[in-house]
Amino acid sequence: MEISITKAAASELKEKPDESDLGFGNLFSDHMFVMTYSAGRGWHDAEIKPYQNFSLNPSAMALHYGQAIFEGLKAYRGRDNKIRLFRPQANLERMNVTAARMCMAQIDPDEVLTALKKLLDIDQDWVPSAKGSTLYIRPAMIATEAALGVRPSTEYLFFIILSPVGAYYPEGFNPVKIFVTDKYVRAVKGGVGHVKTAGNYAASIMAAMEAKEAGYTQVLWLDACEHRYIEEVGTMNIFFKINGEVITPPLNGSILPGVTRDSALTITKAWGLDVKERPITIDEVLKANENNELEEIFGTGTAAVISPVGELYYKGQSISINNGQTGPLAQRLFDELEAVQYAHQDDRYNWMEKLN
Ligand code: COI
Repeated sequence: MEISITKAAASELKEKPDESDLGFGNLFSDHMFVMTYSAGRGWHDAEIKPYQNFSLNPSAMALHYGQAIFEGLKAYRGRDNKIRLFRPQANLERMNVTAARMCMAQIDPDEVLTALKKLLDIDQDWVPSAKGSTLYIRPAMIATEAALGVRPSTEYLFFIILSPVGAYYPEGFNPVKIFVTDKYVRAVKGGVGHVKTAGNYAASIMAAMEAKEAGYTQVLWLDACEHRYIEEVGTMNIFFKINGEVITPPLNGSILPGVTRDSALTITKAWGLDVKERPITIDEVLKANENNELEEIFGTGTAAVISPVGELYYKGQSISINNGQTGPLAQRLFDELEAVQYAHQDDRYNWMEKLN
């Protein structure tokens, strides 16, 4: 794939942000990658250019029928000052699974990775070096054909933008409070809960707002049929440690196959822990808590990294997990992931992709 490159003039370059106060997702680097798809022609007009607005036809199909998908991955500045991507192929392959489910165009993961590396090379000064900070990478695709009518678009726009970030949650890497909703559902088997499409997130906002009003950071979703089986948090997958057993819900068709979830499974298995992907109900969690067997709960996600859960609310009852403190397993996993991502230790799982 040929990529045309237009660099921002020196006078257009933005001031680099204060790395101690990055927040999440509000700042964007100087450049972006864009390419266009047309049926019959495939992907074309690949370019890296200054970060700028798009011009979209008001009848662009993404705006009406929701063919809009995305990914999230990160670039890290290692302690050797080298920049590395964490499992980029896994994210780009997942994007193709999402695209297939949403009847959108397939990308070539190798070509997109090459384009991403070029973009990162140009904007490498945007990869922060402060502890806990990273460059969040957002590849996305939207349907751009100008037409009304529910069918697959014949035109798409694919783009990658870069955002220097700190922790996703306002709590930083401290335990979050989670609201288990028995009123709303996120996804159902046969639907689109297992792919990263924008509508899943739109559908979650009302429950998240109600949880926030009640003083909680996020929502834990239960299955849509029986309202018993734990699914995920929407912004992260979820893990439990009960009486020594590490449990996460299986990929049953309605939860996202998280790359960090998969990494946490690999690491905990390598440590020889008793790890299971199995159905787990909210009642099992509450019962384990009553029996003093609920040791830890934590979430995993690209944005969320490893997020300990300090409190769970369900049907008028609030329970404190590990006295509201980060548990030893969540801490150990966080440390291990960080050590790999920031190259404090060998890339023993072969997950890191060097920029150059
Ligand atoms: C990610 O973890 O990359 C996501 O896309 C989740 C989103 C809430 C930022």
